[in-house]
Parts: sequence; C-alpha cells; structure tokens
Amino acid sequence: PVVVRTRAELAVALGEASMVSGTVASTRALVMTMGALHEGHLALVRAARQVADTVVVSIFVNPLQFGPGEDYERYPRTLDADVALLSEVGVEIVFAPDRDEMYPGGDPTVSVTAGTPGGILEGASRPGHFDGVLTVVLKVIHLVRPDVAIFGEKDAQQILLVRRMVEDLAVPVRIQGVPIVRDDDGLALSSRNAYLSADERQAALALSRGLRAGRDVADEGGSPAEVLAAARGMLDRSAGVVTDYVELLDTATVEVVPESHAGQALLLVAARVGATRLIDNMAVSLS
Ligand code: PAJ
Repeated sequence: PVVVRTRAELAVALGEASMVSGTVASTRALVMTMGALHEGHLALVRAARQVADTVVVSIFVNPLQFGPGEDYERYPRTLDADVALLSEVGVEIVFAPDRDEMYPGGDPTVSVTAGTPGGILEGASRPGHFDGVLTVVLKVIHLVRPDVAIFGEKDAQQILLVRRMVEDLAVPVRIQGVPIVRDDDGLALSSRNAYLSADERQAALALSRGLRAGRDVADEGGSPAEVLAAARGMLDRSAGVVTDYVELLDTATVEVVPESHAGQALLLVAARVGATRLIDNMAVSLS
C-alpha cells in the first residue's frame, strides 16, 4: 500500500486511486484502526476488499478516546509490522497521521457527543470515551469520503453508536459490521492482549466462558437475571479477574434490557485481568 502521513498526501493518493480504478462507478471502503493489527482487523480489511476497489486503512491512536490514567502512552505502536500485514491482504492506502496532523492546534473545540447510549456500559466506566470515538470516526470519514466504513462487532457499543451517529447526523456512508474473530481457545482478539502475561491470558478466557455460560442459560429458557447471574458467576469465580460489568443490551434501543425482555439481545462483559481491561460480547436469544 501507499502509506500517507498527512491529509494532503491522503487527498493525492485518493485521487490517484480513483484514476486507476477508472471512470466507471468505483467503491471506496474505509477500515479505521488504532494499529497493532491482528487477524480481527484483517477480517475487516478482507470484508472491505470484497466490496470495494479502493481500500483505505487508517491507523491512529486517538488521544480523545482515552481517559486520564488509561493506556494512551503505552498503547502498542507497530506501524512497520502493520503495513507488512496489510500488504499481504491487499490495501491501496494506509493513512497514518500523527496527533498534530489530526488535531492541529490541540484538541478540537467542537466535537460529537454520544448522548445517553454513550454513557452506559463502556461509557460509564470510561467517561467521554465514545465522544472521542465518534469525533475521530466522523473526522476520518470526512477526510476519506468512503462509500462504506467497516467496524468489528467486538466493540459492540461502538458500532451501535457509529450507526446511530450516521443516522442522526445523516452521514453519507454505509456502515458494515464484521463478526468477532477469536483465538481457538475462545479469547476475542484484541491489541490489548499483547499486555497479558501467560497466566493472565489463561485467566482472560473467563470472559468468553462467561458469555457462553450466559448464552447456554438463555438457550434453556432462562430469564435475563438468570443469564446475567450465570455469566457473572463464571467471571467472579475466576482468579485474577475483576469484573467491571455484565449486562444485556437491546441493540435496537441501545438500552439495558428490562427483566421482561424477550427475543435477541447482546450479552456484554468487561473485566480487568491484571492491569489490562478487556471486553467481549455474544448474541443471546431470550424467550
Ligand atoms: P481498534 O481497537 O484498533 O479496532 C479497530 C476495528 O477493529 C474496530 O472496528 C474493532 O471493532 C475491530 N476489531 C478489533 N478486534 C476485533 C476482533 N477480534 N474481531 C472483529 N473485529 C475486531 O476500535 C477502535 O480501534 C477505535 O475505537 C477506532 C474505531 C479506530 C476509533 O479510534
């Protein structure tokens, strides 16, 4: 891929890519990442490759979405390895701006707020996180002008909020989701898994185990409270794991489901394993 570091270089590269793909209607896809790429990210890139002639991957560790005391400084930055991985999948453009290029003059004065659904679950534990996410997502969409933007279901609340923003602000882009990519043992792939020691990685399996325990209870006709208790029990019994939240979300309303809820819902967990905060989720059907 051509790697561009500035908005000006990006504009040139986008123009050249359109020339190459010809005058017939061509499609541009955007995959936004913070780098430290793994197979989960690559699944998004492959989905982009299937629907577009021009695939743009952005790599930017967005300071706006990190709270004080979070891992902004130590977040893994591995641009050379990332570009090498992307060249195997086939990507036209990698946009890797630095902080000044994205936010000249410091943090933006005007920004997107995620509203009430941005304040629950991840947003409750990480105040302002989704405001920062939506602000950078909207900005990069404006810079790249994609027909479709691809997001992973790993960050379930994030993709729901991006969809909500696109609807509420009439952003002219299609949002496409990609299912969670897991390791063979069930652990959802995450750039933050790189922080885990061997013991912590074993302990981290409690998240996907908890989700499966909850889903099994749902399949047997369990109530929302029983589903939550099964998942939480699995997490709370796991040594080295500190549960942050276990919740059932109605994906249509982006609200926590009431005890009377029936039908599809998303079971979400967040937990700390050592110093590392991990999230995961799974669809369940409540009867
Ligand atoms: P990041 O954590 O790098 O994730 C980039 C994209 O990859 C997100 O859409 C995320 O859901 C997806 N992804 C990560 N792990 C995945 C997995 N195991 N399976 C499927 N998809 C996975 O999410 C962000 O960055 C940022 O918030 C960003 C959207 C780039 C804005 O800064």
